[in-house]
Amino acid sequence: MSAEEVIKALPKLEQHVHIVGSIRPETFLWLIEDSGMDLPYETVEDLEEFYDYSDFPHFLVVYSTVNDSITRERHYERITYEMMESQAACNVQHVEALFSAWDHVRRGLDYGLIVDSINRGIRRAERDFGVTCTIRVDLVRNYGPGIGMKVLDLIEEKGDNVVAIDTGGSELGYPPKPYRECYRRAREMGLHTVAHQGEGAGKDYVWECVEHLDPERIGHGVAAGRDPELMKLIARKGIAIESCPVSNLRTGAVGSWAEHPIRRFIEHGIRVSVNSDDPPMFGTDMNNEYLQLHRNLGFTVDELFQISLNSVETSFLEPEAKASMSRRFTAEYEKI
Ligand code: ADE
Ligand code: ZN
Repeated sequence: MSAEEVIKALPKLEQHVHIVGSIRPETFLWLIEDSGMDLPYETVEDLEEFYDYSDFPHFLVVYSTVNDSITRERHYERITYEMMESQAACNVQHVEALFSAWDHVRRGLDYGLIVDSINRGIRRAERDFGVTCTIRVDLVRNYGPGIGMKVLDLIEEKGDNVVAIDTGGSELGYPPKPYRECYRRAREMGLHTVAHQGEGAGKDYVWECVEHLDPERIGHGVAAGRDPELMKLIARKGIAIESCPVSNLRTGAVGSWAEHPIRRFIEHGIRVSVNSDDPPMFGTDMNNEYLQLHRNLGFTVDELFQISLNSVETSFLEPEAKASMSRRFTAEYEKI
């Protein structure tokens, strides 16, 4: 087997993928029709231009249009099922999937029915593909901490399979500190905590996030790679980084592969996972993420397998499930 074939066969765990960002182009066209939207796209080729982003804010505008196409709670069952089918094709065995509740509640959809719909998709995909999945709710920073609290109320009412919170969405102009109370309350509710940070704004926000939100993991973290003291602090506190390399190139969070900080994170002792973020919207999947690190940054197969084990170690699985998944991954790797 070539190195590239081994990389594709590696057992993997996805820590950072948005369910809406996983909508396949064909499914987006179906959603446009099912929702009666008036958009000038009829073929998958038409969508190529739509998925070409000038920068991170432009990506979020496109993402919002995709959100508009979800007009019925039941849409979530199909997109969640297809997300897991695509993950299974990359030998991903567990997924921690992001769902931005308020994006839909503010458009008139029912939170509880969406959670049921997501869990139906998960259960069907677990049965069909043997992949497991938990849910992380993105409070979406640009809605503000007041809405964040309302979303926490919703999770308190119905938290079926919800294990964590996050703050994604716009970053510049929305510093993390106002979310301090939301993070404190989430921890009290027994939820794990993550923050998208250092993707669309500078390292000051990452410092503020570490100090005031103290999350278990940071999504992206790119800006921290420009500050050795900050990387040392992140390592010392045991905060893991969910790296999403192809996303970072596609949104312009980094200018080139050579500038990507993933190796610096590892050299500073930070535990790093590799993730696909919004796979079809960035023309990627988990196999491609691992392959690109091999091709562009010289990651060896052993190094990539270590990243896969780190992803299990820093996942939100229960300790026993982590231990058995690590053993299973190692046994599988030895057989490849
Ligand atoms: N929502 C979907 N993808 C995102 C990203 N990469 N950053 C912030 N919010 C997002
Ligand atoms: Zn993300």
